Amino acid sequence: MKRVLTYGTFDTLHFGHIRLLQRARALGDYLIVGLSTDEFNEKKNKKAFHSWEERKFFLETLRYVDLVIEEKSWEQKVADIQLYHVNIFTMGSDWEGKFDYLSEHCEVIYLPRTQSISSTQIREFLAD
Ligand code: CTP
Repeated sequence: MKRVLTYGTFDTLHFGHIRLLQRARALGDYLIVGLSTDEFNEKKNKKAFHSWEERKFFLETLRYVDLVIEEKSWEQKVADIQLYHVNIFTMGSDWEGKFDYLSEHCEVIYLPRTQSISSTQIREFLAD
């Protein structure tokens, strides 16, 4: 059983997110998503349109997602990899190189980001 781990805010779930999750899940047999809490987003100066509970609910309806956990800090990744026996850590290519230090704990794979769509873009559209 290969376990895959990814992190993100996944606000206003969109095509780019779903493509990322589909490809992440296809890297193994079990996909864990570390979903940024509202408090952690505040630290990142990000304000999600949907609450953590709503974002979790959307992710749990997807066939590609097996487990949603809280992402509360930048530093929890190694502990999560060990706790959940993760084989592969993956993120979109906007994070290319940023998590190479995790390769001493598991395989690190960056997946190409889907062009021309983002939560920021959707939030701006909703605010208009
Ligand atoms: N992602 C992607 N393609 C997109 C948007 C996001 O592959 N068009 C990936 C990111 O690379 C990341 C994951 O989806 O691995 C979660 O990204 P997140 O930051 O939550 O989504 P964004 O739409 O980029 O949100 P924002 O605009 O708030 O940064």
